[in-house]
Amino acid sequence: MCGIVGGISSSGTVLAHLVEGLRVLEYRGYDSCGVAVAEGGSVTVRRKVGRLAELERVLADGALGQARAGIGHTRWATHGKPSDENAHPHSDGSGKLALVHNGIIENYLELRRELIAEGRKFHSETDTEVLTLLVGREYDLGKSLGDAVRAALARVRGYYAIAVISTGASPALVGARHGPPLVAAQTSDGAWLASDVLALMPHTRDVIYIEDGEVVELSPGKVAITNLAGEPVTRVPLRIEWDAEAASKGGFAHHMLKEIFEQPDVLARTAFDRIASVHGDVAFEGAGWDDALLKRIKRVQVIACGTALHAGMIARYMIEGLARVPVDFDFASEFRYREPCLAPDTLALAITQSGETADTLAALRLARELGAYPASICNAIGSTVVRESEATILTHAGPEIGVASTKAFTAQVVAAFLLAVRLARARGMIDEARGRELLDDLRRLRPRMEGLLSDNTVHRVRAIAERHLKAKGFFFLGRGLNFPIALEGALKLKEISYVHAEGYAAGEMKHGPIALIEPGMPVVVISSTGRVTDKVRSNIEQVKARGGHVIVIGSDADSRSLGDESIEVPEASEWLSPVLNVIPLQLFAYHHALMRGCDIDKPRNLAKSVTVE
Ligand code: F6R
Repeated sequence: MCGIVGGISSSGTVLAHLVEGLRVLEYRGYDSCGVAVAEGGSVTVRRKVGRLAELERVLADGALGQARAGIGHTRWATHGKPSDENAHPHSDGSGKLALVHNGIIENYLELRRELIAEGRKFHSETDTEVLTLLVGREYDLGKSLGDAVRAALARVRGYYAIAVISTGASPALVGARHGPPLVAAQTSDGAWLASDVLALMPHTRDVIYIEDGEVVELSPGKVAITNLAGEPVTRVPLRIEWDAEAASKGGFAHHMLKEIFEQPDVLARTAFDRIASVHGDVAFEGAGWDDALLKRIKRVQVIACGTALHAGMIARYMIEGLARVPVDFDFASEFRYREPCLAPDTLALAITQSGETADTLAALRLARELGAYPASICNAIGSTVVRESEATILTHAGPEIGVASTKAFTAQVVAAFLLAVRLARARGMIDEARGRELLDDLRRLRPRMEGLLSDNTVHRVRAIAERHLKAKGFFFLGRGLNFPIALEGALKLKEISYVHAEGYAAGEMKHGPIALIEPGMPVVVISSTGRVTDKVRSNIEQVKARGGHVIVIGSDADSRSLGDESIEVPEASEWLSPVLNVIPLQLFAYHHALMRGCDIDKPRNLAKSVTVE
């Protein structure tokens, strides 16, 4: 999704920092990029469709190298095709001001008509240019840039994070937010802003999250926040504990591969400090997960998107199975528009890596309006979802850069397991001894994950991926806790290898999809030891009887012996088997995509964090 950077400095040029910031944001997916700098009494814009390397070629003349203030943007097209003209920044034609924008201006058509009627000229198809011209119109009246931005935003309906620069007596840099994220930071001689905290890490680890309805004015060494009425807002910076190194590839060929291999550590970071072995219980930091509240909860409503929803589906099995609390789950994008009915004492559980997914956030807000207790499982401290939750379980997965989610997913599943145990203990559904047993299983998972991530598994997975490189399509089947893993395996393959893959509940095949099985079709079946193993074995037989080529992933040796090919996964408690079973599927998608020459960390058409509808 689109990315914003901006900076103002008293001691040196900002251009190199802007370009580096854009490089950090590349992972989010984009189709064009650009910068604008304020220098010598005017604002100069350079922008290009395509990759950052294209923009760097245009900047190589060094003409903008001395500027002390600037903004930059990576665009993921919403209004208007990817082109140089539609790329950001946009200027108002005066040479005094330029603006970058993430989000959508919903009333842009009526505003555009109004501006055209005044004789203003448009050069792009974007909604952003409307906002630029609105700010320009106010700025022409002699207002400060901050006042011009506040006045322009009063006319706008929609979602935005913006950054604007202007020249004048001295350059000015202003940001504002309503929806998509925006973070700012000050250093001794500069001030910086970005849509993603990662882009601020080269400057400082103390960052200030801008909230909806706020405008931030930056000057060297100073970040000043106001609301839209211009009233000052005070906010203390938040310290980001991980450093920029955590977001590097660390010797791996791709971020995704590094992130797959980080999963044993992510499990440890997310779970181990929270295990209260003596009590057979889980101790979450922060308020909101205490016995009194959890005893009151009558239902859980999971809301999430994509991979995070798959984690939410697993959460349902865990919470219902262990804590005996009914759980519903829904795509956040469906929940928010279907006039949902929530029972009294519902805990609304948003599951999200970024904490900024527009649909998830809107669904959580709606659930709160409907009386639910808003809670979340989230990877981004300081994100909007965390700030709007009464209680959060942070998944300590660290920054996930690969667009296809891997380590964040396993961390979400682990967090869901912790929550299920906490709920079960609080409600007296399991005793101390059973709690201890479950949590010991969790501790034992780490060496098993490490074992699974061995060269042996990787070679076997790669060989299978190679044998099926030309396959037209794949089925992924699973039951129970491993049904969502089938969905996740199929999603990973679709996302990064661009091959049709369908995830299905194995028991549902006979109700229709089995008609698609033809001789040689690869069917990946997840089968671990547990209450549905016999059933999965029968499903394997059904597929084989139609000539399907069965690839079995899991701990059940009998299922594996039925398959044409197989990957052994270490034994684990049934509740935790998804955490292991997903790993070969992630590796399968990775190697399949690699051999097909796909852009693994930045798959086509996808964005890391979907902050628009
Ligand atoms: C798939 C993937 C997406 C995200 C989804 C939600 O690999 O990453 O399906 O899971 O866009 O994103 P978050 O978790 O940031 O809300």
